[in-house]
Amino acid sequence: VRTQPELPAEILLDWNESPIGAPLAAVERIVATAHHLHRYPRGLMEEVTDLAAAHLGVAPEQILLTAGVDEAIDITLGLADRAWGTLPGFDAIAERAEVLGKPFRAIPLDADWQPGDRAPGAGDADIVYLAQPNNPTGNLFDESWIDRVRAAARYVFIDETYLEFSSRPSVLSSGDDPRLLVYRSFSKAFGLAGIRVGCLVATPETVARMAAARRFMPIDAVSLNAAAGVLGDTGFIKRLTEHVLLGRADLTAILGRSGLFADVRDTEANFVLAHPRADVAARLAAGLARRRLRVKECTPLGLPGWLRVSVGSRPEHQALDECLTGIATGGAR
Ligand SMILES: Cc1ncc(COP(=O)(O)O)c(C=O)c1O
Repeated sequence: VRTQPELPAEILLDWNESPIGAPLAAVERIVATAHHLHRYPRGLMEEVTDLAAAHLGVAPEQILLTAGVDEAIDITLGLADRAWGTLPGFDAIAERAEVLGKPFRAIPLDADWQPGDRAPGAGDADIVYLAQPNNPTGNLFDESWIDRVRAAARYVFIDETYLEFSSRPSVLSSGDDPRLLVYRSFSKAFGLAGIRVGCLVATPETVARMAAARRFMPIDAVSLNAAAGVLGDTGFIKRLTEHVLLGRADLTAILGRSGLFADVRDTEANFVLAHPRADVAARLAAGLARRRLRVKECTPLGLPGWLRVSVGSRPEHQALDECLTGIATGGAR
């Protein structure tokens, strides 16, 4: 079993996945337990819930394991009449609200990608979704603004999917608050985007209310075994985080020195943002496509014209560097 795959023909720097592969402990546990797949996942929800609670420093009764952030959004949309989210912001909020028939209100961000001074107007019938750090802007919002939203809205859902890469501690350390819902993902710092498991943290009362409406054993044994594996090897999370923090600076430098971008912004997440110069944008897009190097164009996330580039492995950064140099010098690469 390899933890670091070979450089494939297609380089995927578009969805902010692990730059160091999957956690070996998770892979090994899946392999070791595969012969038990004729059994229901007896006890596994409880085991992963306990491990996640210990990792996050909360009580097991405060944890609801979900099928990624989408299920966490779907479940929590049921707690309020209207949903709010930032623009630019994570597009799943507006999408899921529309699917579930909840009105969605956008909170516009200013030129510094901050919500500004205005309170959003959310009240007692509302749930406000904020990603901290935000996607796609990768930044943190002014804390006093978040406090005002928390005081006004019925619920505030803080999505901490990129928390491990940021300079601000988890909002979970701010103490118990019945209005607060926190999401933690297994997809980024835990390196397990393939399993579709996440962790919703709330008060025991809110968790009990949400859990009552769920299906029987809603997460499969393979996913739960992988989650248990990584939670038993927190050294992997530390290694991945260290790689991202160093790699982010490297990626910022590669994008900056290429000369192809009018603006390059470091973030608090596992990606960097870059705005191509108008005169090279088409050539850049064609050159990246030719090299099969995928990055995320941010129009669907409310940030048209910007590219979001995930921190990758060293060979991936080298390939990106060579590709950008080729485009800048007009070569065939
Ligand atoms: C803000 C934000 N939340 C959640 C997710 C996805 O989380 P998960 O894979 O746990 O569903 C992403 C993925 O890109 C994201 O950007």
